[in-house]
Amino acid sequence: MARQSEIDLRAAINAISDVIHNRPRPIREFDQIYMKAADMVIQSEIIADWADGKRVAFIGDGDAISVCIAYLKKRDILQYGPSHIKVFDFDERICNSIIRFADKERMSETLEAIPYNCFDAFPDVGGFDCYYTNPPWGQHNEGESVKLFAQRGMEAVGHKGEGVIVIADDDDLDWPKVVLKAVQNQALEEGFFIQRMMRKLHLYHLEEEPDLHSCNLFVKATPGNKAKRPSQTIDDPDLLDKFYGRNGSLHVRYVRQKKRVDYGKAHDDEYALEYLEADK
Ligand SMILES: C[S@@+](CC[C@H](N)C(=O)[O-])C[C@H]1O[C@@H](n2cnc3c(N)ncnc32)[C@H](O)[C@@H]1O
Repeated sequence: MARQSEIDLRAAINAISDVIHNRPRPIREFDQIYMKAADMVIQSEIIADWADGKRVAFIGDGDAISVCIAYLKKRDILQYGPSHIKVFDFDERICNSIIRFADKERMSETLEAIPYNCFDAFPDVGGFDCYYTNPPWGQHNEGESVKLFAQRGMEAVGHKGEGVIVIADDDDLDWPKVVLKAVQNQALEEGFFIQRMMRKLHLYHLEEEPDLHSCNLFVKATPGNKAKRPSQTIDDPDLLDKFYGRNGSLHVRYVRQKKRVDYGKAHDDEYALEYLEADK
């Protein structure tokens, strides 16, 4: 049931603005490409509704949709949302920014984040009801990067729950169709079915492809479904070589935070002051 009419749009946009203010700057080499603000509002409402009362694992979340849905519920802008959210992301800056925001807004009991690289075996198999992922979109690997994130999502729900995969969706380009097919095939092979696809829903801060949209692909486990194998660490240098779009061969376990920065404010190494004559 769509519940959008109940939202105070001004309050929702201002809340999303608080979340954006708190986010680290994206590292483009790792396909951190943030969703645009209006689309974050719409996406947050959709995901909060879909995951109402559920435990949700986010497999990577630079966009901070996890934070948005927890915060919109906490501030009573949405009356629905997940009961618990945990983000698994290899970027410590992203995890720390989520933990800091959750702490400041007194949401630490419902919103958590831990450093995790999806090449490692999943640490909490079956611990969740749903998963959400907006992975590297697999332009140069026929969707293998999306499939690895989705695999970890399916493990998070013990191959029993449901998931949303956010990936490229375009009428003119070929590669998004190849990726969508590969990801849908994987879901079927793992005992899930495709429940719904919300087409061309979001845009991103992506200079070279400003009109490239993504869709929400909803998958759900068939009753009685079981995992075919335990969660395993992947050691595949070839996959790592083409895992990310802009720069292949990034064999990185974690992105570590060097110093604590306040992301919403200018850093003092960004500018110099030139004083008025009288003050020299
Ligand atoms: C790859 S980006 C996809 C674009 C998305 N709009 C975003 O910027 O969040 C999604 C998230 O996956 C994380 N990520 C990238 N590689 C990862 C890996 N190997 N293991 C876990 N998380 C990873 C990034 O840090 C980012 O937060």
